[in-house]
Amino acid sequence: MAPHTDSADSHAPETRVNGINFYTRKWVKPEDLNANGTLFGGSLLRWIDEEAAIYAIIQLGNHRVVTKFISEINFQASARQGDLIEMGLVATSFGRTSLAMRAEVRNMITRKVILSIERIVFVNIDEEGNAAPHGYSTITYDRDRMPTTQPAED
Ligand SMILES: CC(C)(COP(=O)(O)OP(=O)(O)OC[C@H]1O[C@@H](n2cnc3c(N)ncnc32)[C@H](O)[C@@H]1OP(=O)(O)O)[C@@H](O)C(=O)NCCC(=O)NCCS
Repeated sequence: MAPHTDSADSHAPETRVNGINFYTRKWVKPEDLNANGTLFGGSLLRWIDEEAAIYAIIQLGNHRVVTKFISEINFQASARQGDLIEMGLVATSFGRTSLAMRAEVRNMITRKVILSIERIVFVNIDEEGNAAPHGYSTITYDRDRMPTTQPAED
């Protein structure tokens, strides 16, 4: 039976594997496939970038965060239509204006690691688009830094 979901997203209670918290699950659908019938790398990177942006917003308490750097991306295994995948991130270092993270994506059906990225760096920016100090040095597991205004109100 198909998983019950209105979209490809499923926000599950998070799971922790190898020090990484897996926050979001995705259902691989026809529009996510390449010509080989397996998960298209570009779709996966888009999901990871979005996941990292949300993680950075929660950690740095600012809507204005941008992707600065993504290290080597190692696609280790793939996924097929109907597979469920889960995406995990962990902050590895807090800089003055930046946040570095490690990412891993796993296939929940085959249990294989689909992709790992050692270093994704996001930068906290101000209204002018300049790098701005975020003032944090440790991971929060709560929602205590969540922005309290909507982006358009900033
Ligand atoms: C993000 C941006 C404002 C930073 O400007 P900048 O002049 O490079 O700023 P800085 O040199 O002060 O660097 C900002 C931080 O990024 C880090 N950084 C810069 N280049 C980096 C690189 N190649 N890899 C990793 N981190 C890097 C710096 O170490 C610094 O971190 P810290 O303050 O924690 O030490 C600017 O590069 C930018 O707007 N880039 C485009 C971002 C974007 O639009 N991304 C979406 C994809 S198109």
